Amino acid sequence: MAMTWSHVVLYVKDADRMLDFYTRVLGFQITDRGHIGGGPNEIIFLSQHPSEHHQVAMVPMRKDEGPSNSLAHIAFRLDGMSELRGKIAALQGESVSMRPTTHGNTWSIYIQDPEQNGIEMFCDTPWHVTQPAGKEWDINADDATLMAWTKQAFAEEPGFEAKEAFHSRLAETLA
Ligand SMILES: [Fe+2]
Repeated sequence: MAMTWSHVVLYVKDADRMLDFYTRVLGFQITDRGHIGGGPNEIIFLSQHPSEHHQVAMVPMRKDEGPSNSLAHIAFRLDGMSELRGKIAALQGESVSMRPTTHGNTWSIYIQDPEQNGIEMFCDTPWHVTQPAGKEWDINADDATLMAWTKQAFAEEPGFEAKEAFHSRLAETLA
């Protein structure tokens, strides 16, 4: 039976600031919170998917100083470009810098949360490209322009093919 991804638990320093960002800006809801084993340490659970009790949880017992440094990023899939554009709009006015990167197989936005954990939000393109691959994409381009530009930008890259072709081979390999 294949394992499916469920959640990440982050040690955090400033739970109020982190919860504000994850709920107000990223759209998570707090699904539960309580003290672990009745002790002093709280855990706060967040989800925005009806089938997951939590996708992210936070435990405010981080001791190290400076940016979180052992986690490159956590990534969230969105169901299409209009949902991704909704997240981009939610980030306007926040002091968060966005790095738009397409990996050929995704249109991604990379940001950092208030404690500088990396976050990727992405939607799928129709294609597969051998990884790693990446180019900056224009968040102001309309969908049709972006689609045409992305296809042209990766068409000559190794492994470029329809996403379904790659994933059906992967399914055979994993079977
Ligand atoms: Fe990623």
